[in-house]
Amino acid sequence: MDNLRIPGPTPCPEVVLKEMSRQMINHRGSEFAQILNGVTDKLKQLFQTKNDVFLLTGSGTGGLEAAVVNTLSPGDKVIAVSIGVFGDRFAAIAQKFGAEVIPLNFEWGKAADIDEIRKSLKKEPDVKAVLVTHNETSTGVTNDLAQISTVVKEFDKLLLVDAISSLGSIELPVDDWHCDITVTGSQKGWMVPPGLAMVAISEKAWQANSQAKMPRFYWDFAKAKSYLEKGQTPWTPAISVVFALKLALEMMLQEGLANVIARHARIAQMTHDGVKALGLSLFAEESHASNTVTSIAASDGLNVAKLLKILREEHHVVLGGGQQKLSGQIFRIGHLGWVNEEDINMVLKSLMIALPQAGFKGAS
Ligand SMILES: Cc1ncc(COP(=O)(O)O)c(C=O)c1O
Repeated sequence: MDNLRIPGPTPCPEVVLKEMSRQMINHRGSEFAQILNGVTDKLKQLFQTKNDVFLLTGSGTGGLEAAVVNTLSPGDKVIAVSIGVFGDRFAAIAQKFGAEVIPLNFEWGKAADIDEIRKSLKKEPDVKAVLVTHNETSTGVTNDLAQISTVVKEFDKLLLVDAISSLGSIELPVDDWHCDITVTGSQKGWMVPPGLAMVAISEKAWQANSQAKMPRFYWDFAKAKSYLEKGQTPWTPAISVVFALKLALEMMLQEGLANVIARHARIAQMTHDGVKALGLSLFAEESHASNTVTSIAASDGLNVAKLLKILREEHHVVLGGGQQKLSGQIFRIGHLGWVNEEDINMVLKSLMIALPQAGFKGAS
């Protein structure tokens, strides 16, 4: 079996995978209602929210689209904070549905500058919402969401958060940080295969929803709410993934959210220290280096494509490359969800052998 260390999909515990092989049940029946209600309740605990939480069958991008179309109308002005590929994607979705997007782009590898966000909000008083990525998976940078939220709320704007690769792994108390829509995806820190987006919706987001005119059908939150009252989803859900999620959430609560978050922090530190000890440098600015994905700069003659191939073929270690303009410039180690120290030790040991074979001359 490969040691799959990309930042999602992530490996799943055998017991979770086994849940996926359960026989189908009626998604309009009482057994499913009980499971859905239990899963929703557990998600609320892990999101640290008392607000509505919905399971949407789709990937994380579907959740981002749902966030946009359920709160905005064509022509609404939004500030789209971007520090990488996924921040750009959130902006592109809003643009596609007719929002007037004010891009606020920061250098890749760095976190968003709070003062620039404040300046932008001052300059654009009629902005309706701020779109932000909590953890930018493409660069391995975590934004300071608590501070961003404080600024956004000083101006009383909606805060739409892509927390796809952070929630459940990195501290994000959804209610305390006043996130209006918070989106995550099952294949990231949740130890579950792809197939579900999970979203939380605040009271302020519901108010926006009642005015929002962007077209929506599949992603309609009002429909999701009315069906959840019956213990159902509007459309046929990915039942097998829901079975898996039920068990994974029980495991997470058993470990305890604080412990899950601490484990991610510990393993991230170990990964950062480990790659530096091999003579590599982080691509992300250290103060905001992510606890779920480590991005590493390709320096000193390192050929990333060659490295990834050697690791995959000779060591059964699968790492991520750089996306878009970072292709060939960085590689990434995912350490979220079902991960422990031994998994990362294996990666580091394999890197030690493979780096010189892939042209790296910087090893100490
Ligand atoms: C921060 C972030 N946003 C959005 C996405 C897109 O999610 P999906 O691939 O599930 O649509 C990802 C997935 O890598 C992500 O890490």
